[in-house]
Amino acid sequence: MKLIVAGATGLIGSELIKQSLQNSAITQVIALARKPVEVDSANSSKLKNVTISDYGEYSDKVKAGLAGADACIWTVGVTPLKSKSLDIAEVKRVCQDCTLAGFKAIYEAGPARPFRFLYFSGDGVMEDPKAKKPLFLGDYMIMRAETDAIVRKLPEEYKDIEICVARPGLVMSSVTWTRAAMASVFSAINFFTRAIPNVAVDELSVAVLDQVIAGFEKETLSNADLLRLGQAALEAKHT
Ligand SMILES: NC(=O)c1ccc[n+]([C@@H]2O[C@H](COP(=O)([O-])OP(=O)(O)OC[C@H]3O[C@@H](n4cnc5c(N)ncnc54)[C@H](OP(=O)(O)O)[C@@H]3O)[C@@H](O)[C@H]2O)c1
Repeated sequence: MKLIVAGATGLIGSELIKQSLQNSAITQVIALARKPVEVDSANSSKLKNVTISDYGEYSDKVKAGLAGADACIWTVGVTPLKSKSLDIAEVKRVCQDCTLAGFKAIYEAGPARPFRFLYFSGDGVMEDPKAKKPLFLGDYMIMRAETDAIVRKLPEEYKDIEICVARPGLVMSSVTWTRAAMASVFSAINFFTRAIPNVAVDELSVAVLDQVIAGFEKETLSNADLLRLGQAALEAKHT
C-alpha cells in the first residue's frame, strides 16, 4: 500500500512515519510536510519526502508525487493550545481550507480505488456544527465541527473514497518533557479512571494505521474506539 502521511513533521505524523516504516503492509510512505523528514531506520528506502511550502498549494510536480496512493492520514491542523496565538481566520485556513486543498490535490493526482482518507479531528468537537457554541474555544470548536461535516460529505462529490474522522482526546507522548510529565500524571489517573479522554501516541498511531490498511470500522472513531483498537493491535504485535 502507498500511504500519504500529511503533517509528517507533527507530533502524531512523526509517530505514523516511524510505525509505517516498520509495517510490512505499507510498501511506500509519502511524508507530506513543510520540511523533509529524516529517519534512521532500516526501512528508510520506503520513505519519500514530498515537501511543500504551504499545505494549501499543490503544484503539478507535487501532485505527481502523491499519485496512486491507497490512503492518506491527514494530521495537519492547529491544536486548541496553538490556536490561541493565531488569528481564527488563519486557524480556519490551516484546519479547513488546507484539508480540502490537500484532499483535492490527491484526488486530482489519481489515487487508487477505493481511496481511504482518515482525517484527524479531536475529542469534544460537536457532531452538529449548528449546535450551541461552547463557552470555551467556541469559534474554534464550531470551525472544527464544520470541517468534520465537510470531510464526511466528501464521498457525495468524489467517487470511490472512504472517509474516517478520528477524534482522539489528549495525545500522550514522551517527545517533550512537558508531554512526558503529563503522560506520567495521566497514567496514574488512568489507573483509576479515564476522567479526561487521552491516548498514547503509539496506541493512536497503530490504531489508525490498522484502520487505513484493513478498512474503516466506522465513520467516526472516538477516543474510546482508538484506545480499544490501539491496545488490541499492540497486544497482537507482542504475542
Ligand atoms: N496533540 C493532541 O493532543 C491532539 C489531540 C486531539 C486532536 N489532535 C488533532 O490531531 C491533529 C494533529 O495533531 P498534532 O498534535 O500532531 O499537531 P502538531 O504537531 O501541532 O501539527 C500537526 C501538523 O500541522 C501543521 N501545522 C500546525 N500548525 C500549522 C500552521 N499554523 N500552519 C501550517 N501548518 C501547521 C504542522 O506542520 P509543521 O510541522 O510544518 O509545523 C504539523 O505537521 C490536529 O488536527 C490536532 O488538532 C491533537
